[in-house]
Amino acid sequence: MKLWGGRFTKETNELVHNFNASISYDQKFYKQDILGSIAHVTMLEKQGILTTGEKEAIVDGLQGILTDIENGTLEITGEHEDIHSFVEANLIERIGEPGKKLHTGRSRNDQVALDMKLYTRDEIVAINDLLKELMVVIHRIMSENTETFMPGFTHLQKAQPVTLAHHFGAYFEMFRRDRSRLRDIYDRMNYSPLGSGALAGTTYPLDRKYTASLLKFDGPTFNSMDSVSDRDYLIELLSAMSTIMMHMSRFCEEIILWNSNEYRFVEIDDSYSTGSSIMPQKKNPDIAELVRGKTGRVYGALISLLTTMKGLPLAYNKDMQEDKELTFDAIDTVKGCLALFTGMIDTMKFHPDVMADSARHGFTNATDAADYLVNHGVPFRDAHGIIGQLVLLCIERKISLDELPLDEYQKICPAFEEDIYDAISMKTCVEKRNTIGAPGQTAMNEIIAANEKYLKES
Ligand code: ARG
Repeated sequence: MKLWGGRFTKETNELVHNFNASISYDQKFYKQDILGSIAHVTMLEKQGILTTGEKEAIVDGLQGILTDIENGTLEITGEHEDIHSFVEANLIERIGEPGKKLHTGRSRNDQVALDMKLYTRDEIVAINDLLKELMVVIHRIMSENTETFMPGFTHLQKAQPVTLAHHFGAYFEMFRRDRSRLRDIYDRMNYSPLGSGALAGTTYPLDRKYTASLLKFDGPTFNSMDSVSDRDYLIELLSAMSTIMMHMSRFCEEIILWNSNEYRFVEIDDSYSTGSSIMPQKKNPDIAELVRGKTGRVYGALISLLTTMKGLPLAYNKDMQEDKELTFDAIDTVKGCLALFTGMIDTMKFHPDVMADSARHGFTNATDAADYLVNHGVPFRDAHGIIGQLVLLCIERKISLDELPLDEYQKICPAFEEDIYDAISMKTCVEKRNTIGAPGQTAMNEIIAANEKYLKES
């Protein structure tokens, strides 16, 4: 059934119907559509536009539709253009005349704007919760690993020693910012477009503040043309989701490296790994690779919607229907990836001995050795040169700085004493770094305590 057949003398071409229809995907927000309609008719009755009897019949009918969709007795079928037409047609079929009054003072333009906002609002909360679950796992791993030494890298070259807690702490910060971005988007988008009509409001005395409050918005939007054509919040959400994916993708890239035979810092659990059909020895990090791979898909959705919107005149244009599949797919992708990624790191095994060994053999303590000389009166530039020579010597002998005998140290610079070994141990190197945000245990424990509080309060 069509909502707009009156002025037409011919049937729609079948290909046109299919091309135009959005029901195959906008059925995803059947519930939001029904709840929006209930709020709308509740307001229509309060304003004297519908009688109490009409309102009650409509609300009962809508609730029946909701129940029947949810228990599987009512199937959403493709002959309808979109979910809005489906619900309205079904309502009229169920309750007759009063059903025809549902759409009074409303357009599908403000209706779809409302449904999409209601839907994304819930999804923002769901993504926020998944991010929190991930951060709880990161927090646990941090708390358990403040003395798990490992190399910190720059240019993927071993640089200075850090701890596993510190490394994971970097991701904690990224995901904390991601959550705060979601919060901002929620606050900015949380205004109701309902009552904006097709573009120019309506002549009925609608109470937009009332419907906004019924639907838990912070208030109504302020310009009816903007209300039906604003997709900024989706672009912001796609951008925030792209950033979440980018963060997870970087993390995955590291896990893939760390899980390789060359690094062996971690081992992904069997339950989160896959095998090869030909190579019996293989255990592959497919999940991490897929999360990394799916990042491109979410970026694609962002660029698609930005491009769709860039040339649109005010107000509603059908181009905007394209927002749905992109956003739905991106949301489902992000949610799926977050859940799997969390499970993967929660079950991952760490090899602290391998990590510490890698830090020791990568001269990550060279800066500390230079600092040792500085503390013994050698100017930093000279100290840098001296340690450089010692590093070269160690490379030739295939040993680490702490394996080089004291007389070799003293041959190059007499300022070295027995305490050099303590000064360049991984423990000392990390322990001395206690400025805010550094890996030293004192500094790290303060951050971990603050993170604990953050997780409790947010
Ligand atoms: N399915 C449409 C969309 O998603 C609903 C709005 C239709 N409005 C219209 N004037 N054709 O954008």
